Amino acid sequence: MISQTMQDAFNKQMNAEAYSGYLYISMSSYFESKGLKGMAKWMANQAREEFFHTSKFYHYILERGGRALMAPIDGPTVDWDSPLKVWENVVSHERKVTSLINNLMNMAKKENDHASEVFLQWFVSEQVEEEAAADEILQKMKIAGEAGAVLFMMDNELGQRVLSPLVAAAMVGTPAAA
Ligand code: FEO
Repeated sequence: MISQTMQDAFNKQMNAEAYSGYLYISMSSYFESKGLKGMAKWMANQAREEFFHTSKFYHYILERGGRALMAPIDGPTVDWDSPLKVWENVVSHERKVTSLINNLMNMAKKENDHASEVFLQWFVSEQVEEEAAADEILQKMKIAGEAGAVLFMMDNELGQRVLSPLVAAAMVGTPAAA
């Protein structure tokens, strides 16, 4: 059975993942408003991944005999000065999430909770992918600039995004994959 300390920490992370989903939907809506359909689609897919992360924490807490508790989700930012600022926000947000996952891993080690360490390992790998993907796009955005043909080429490229391999593999056979 999961300890109270770990249960509280996982519930907090479940909320943080839901917030991430809400933030990325907000970014998707921003891109829609700017006519950047590809980036909007990329963000909508990212939100889908975050809600999948939310459900992974939810199911893990239950599997360990704990109680998953829904807390209010903070309202995300709804406007940015430019598309570039959105991507800067994504990178800084994912770095923050990585530190939250690392803190949870440290806590699991301290508590000798080996099952949680194994569970969290998936998120450690996922964060490497998420940070790298966001950082790559940010670097390209810096080259593309704020307007013009290159930005729209990037928008088109980002619209081709599929789910990350880790998430797609984990979603196979689940209702979320339909
Ligand atoms: Fe669930 Fe993007 O971290």
